Amino acid sequence: MSRAVQFSRNGGPEVLDIVEVDEPHAGRGEVRVSVRAAGLNAFDFKVRQDAAYLPSKKLPSGQGNEFAGVVDEVGDGVDGVSIGDEVLGWVSFAAQADYVVVPPTQLAAKPAALDWATAGGIGLVGNTAKRATDAIAPGPGDTVLVSAAAGGVGLLESQLAIRAGATVIGTASEANHEFLRGLGVIPVAYGPGLADRVRAAAPNGITAVLDSAGEETVLLGLELGVDPKRINTIVYSPGVEKYGIQSVGGGGKTSAELAELASLVASGELVLPIAATYRLSEVREAYTRLESRHLLGKIVMLLP
Ligand SMILES: NC(=O)c1ccc[n+]([C@@H]2O[C@H](COP(=O)([O-])OP(=O)(O)OC[C@H]3O[C@@H](n4cnc5c(N)ncnc54)[C@H](OP(=O)(O)O)[C@@H]3O)[C@@H](O)[C@H]2O)c1
Repeated sequence: MSRAVQFSRNGGPEVLDIVEVDEPHAGRGEVRVSVRAAGLNAFDFKVRQDAAYLPSKKLPSGQGNEFAGVVDEVGDGVDGVSIGDEVLGWVSFAAQADYVVVPPTQLAAKPAALDWATAGGIGLVGNTAKRATDAIAPGPGDTVLVSAAAGGVGLLESQLAIRAGATVIGTASEANHEFLRGLGVIPVAYGPGLADRVRAAAPNGITAVLDSAGEETVLLGLELGVDPKRINTIVYSPGVEKYGIQSVGGGGKTSAELAELASLVASGELVLPIAATYRLSEVREAYTRLESRHLLGKIVMLLP
């Protein structure tokens, strides 16, 4: 038997249990990974809280969509992966468990310099941030407004836009401003008065918006004259049809992209702070913290 996080009804962290399941094994074309770290994401709890968020989700369900660990079984027909390889990868609602079984196309090699927690937390926010940032194609001469800049997605979007030569203004709580300044982001507090603060921080105007927080930033971008096609949101779907803005989020993951993100974080070219780690037995506490929505970076569960 092995352990897995599971929920059998919709609700808050209290519906999460650690259950004993039959130990899974790698079938033909599959690899089994003994999990060392599994990242937590807002997507996990949005689906768990609200059955309408992902109607195709059947219960009971596992939890967690990204992981890092050590390959301990290789099925027939798999080449290029060996027992003992350290990897990171993605899986649908099954990562928070002792073992994950996936095809090798959902894995990338873990760079030796990358610690387990970071490796287990990169995949989903990295894929989303890269696609969203590419959607507005920032470059020198751009001033990009990034909302929730201290969150996992916003941190990476901010850094990707800066790497592309743009100036970045990021919204965050005061407590996260110093960290953001260290990355080259100009931080501003969100909430009432945001428009005045952004105007003061960007006297020549804003040319693009990367939104992970909702209506406030999107409407401000429009008010400041940003071309709707250069406003991308990953959370404010009503604005897409209403204002003609973009909504490019996560998707189309590839092993090559995951390897590239892991390499950028391992080399320090991208920074993804780990706000906290928890053991599997603390899964309810971990999601309670995540669901407070005020984090600098990622929360990751460590195993075994
Ligand atoms: N569509 C997609 O494909 C996709 C993919 C990934 C994520 N998402 C969504 O994108 C959002 C961001 O995800 P995440 O993983 O980066 O982190 P998250 O945990 O949802 O966000 C944490 C950040 O949100 C900030 N925040 C909280 N309330 C805010 C507000 N009113 N205005 C501006 N910022 C606020 C917090 O900033 P402070 O701590 O500084 O207060 C914190 O740093 C989530 O809603 C998630 O579901 C969508």
